[in-house]
Amino acid sequence: MSVRKLLAAVASEVVVCVKCPLCKSRKNAVPGGGSLRAKILFVGEAPGSSEDAVGRPFVGAAGKLLDRLLGQSGLKRKSVFITNVVKCRPPKNRKPHRLEIQTCTPYLIRQIKIIRPGLIVALGSTAAGYLLPEAGLPFSKITQIHGRFHEGRLDDQKVALFATFHPAAILRGGKYRQEITNDFALLRKDRRTQNATRARQIHTTSSRARN
Ligand code: URA
Ligand code: SF4
Repeated sequence: MSVRKLLAAVASEVVVCVKCPLCKSRKNAVPGGGSLRAKILFVGEAPGSSEDAVGRPFVGAAGKLLDRLLGQSGLKRKSVFITNVVKCRPPKNRKPHRLEIQTCTPYLIRQIKIIRPGLIVALGSTAAGYLLPEAGLPFSKITQIHGRFHEGRLDDQKVALFATFHPAAILRGGKYRQEITNDFALLRKDRRTQNATRARQIHTTSSRARN
């Protein structure tokens, strides 16, 4: 089956999923989206109210900041894939509970296996706190492990992970603004980011050529 069909199959299960209590309060589940050929996968925590309203990830204020940070790294949203650890909004934007994470993350693991990204970027401590241990790597605090590339394994797949702060945390406090900017500058220098940028440019050029 094609990547498109496999991802659509995950999404079609997510939108009707009733496996955990978050299904009761959501308006729309948010499976995630982006390029079918994404080399980089961004993983947030959970949908917020704007995302819940429309069923798409990072469309609110945190999404605007993420777009800016992506732009500074030479990346476009349409050249990456963006999703969350849990696919439904927790009430009042509380952090997802351990059981909700455990119940929902098989969807994320399937998405990772389908997309096979060269790099997974965890946005914030919920994503990093799930992904690093799952990949056999130690996780302490986001302040300690952010801004570095980590090599691990998810199931049978080798993965490169990078963690940074959550854009929403920056909007709330402003405390780690410089750190997240520095982290995205590191992403910009990474060959996987540069390859993704190049792939997009080739794509853009060839589609222009066709027109
Ligand atoms: N915060 C997240 O973690 N994910 C979203 O999709 C939006 C805000
Ligand atoms: Fe299903 Fe995940 Fe939504 Fe829970 S959060 S209902 S497991 S899609």
